Amino acid sequence: MLSLKDLSVSYDGSRILRNVSLTVPPGHVVCLMGRNGVGKTTTLKAIAGLVQPDAGSVKLGQTELVGLKPEHRARHGLGYVPQGRDIFPNLTVRENLRIGAIAQGKRINGEVDRVLELFPILKEMLPRKGGVLSGGQQQQLAIGRALLTNPKVLLLDEPTEGIQPNIIDHIGETIKKLRSDGFGHDSKEAIREANGKVRAEGKMGILLVEQYLDFCLEVGDSFYIMDRGSIVANGPVSELNDDMIKQHLTV
Ligand SMILES: Nc1ncnc2c1ncn2[C@@H]1O[C@H](COP(=O)(O)OP(=O)(O)OP(=O)(O)O)[C@@H](O)[C@H]1O
Ligand SMILES: [Mg+2]
Repeated sequence: MLSLKDLSVSYDGSRILRNVSLTVPPGHVVCLMGRNGVGKTTTLKAIAGLVQPDAGSVKLGQTELVGLKPEHRARHGLGYVPQGRDIFPNLTVRENLRIGAIAQGKRINGEVDRVLELFPILKEMLPRKGGVLSGGQQQQLAIGRALLTNPKVLLLDEPTEGIQPNIIDHIGETIKKLRSDGFGHDSKEAIREANGKVRAEGKMGILLVEQYLDFCLEVGDSFYIMDRGSIVANGPVSELNDDMIKQHLTV
């Protein structure tokens, strides 16, 4: 479980996030929504350790992440896919995939195959440069790269932005699979107990920053709406109503 408590962040002395609290339980897709510039990306950066908060706490399970470097947070089980994909254009797809896990000192073999199972389009692209991929392919590559560090919690920043509908659908299906099964290619077996029940550890928690409402309704379990750096509404996705949408989401 990822939990933020009263997180506040400033850039150059001006307060961008105010007392942001939210939780991402295992096996849940939590949508963080809000108009442009309200602080969604800053929230993910503060979780990932790329900006330092003025105050507040970010916990993954019992571990306080504030004060830890980004790579240590990743080792504790945090995966981060930044807005705009951020892949290495001059490295091959294979190199792009391996780089995250290698930086973590993780052994990868079957995991690459698991990524290719989730995103088959990447298979034929393995020897090609990341920069020649379409936006949607790059998004899949960026998600695949984050998965190779075997995260317990995955942060996704607008994965549907500028991507064609059929790939959006595929990314949605993949998010749902990860939520229920996790990623580790043998994790399902590893966590299947003698009575056949699958333990919650195999599930992934996903914090999804998203402005595309239909996508949130399709994949999300719960939502938080952010406005000018504060959480102004939250609840199960089924309780998102027209008033909230009109007030906080439509331009
Ligand atoms: N590095 C920075 N230095 C100063 N101000 C910044 C920096 N990054 C973001 N900001 C400001 O912080 C505010 C929140 O930005 P942020 O990127 O978190 O918004 P967002 O909700 O992700 O927006 P979008 O929907 O456009 O991606 C904005 O006013 C932005 O201009
Ligand atoms: Mg953003």
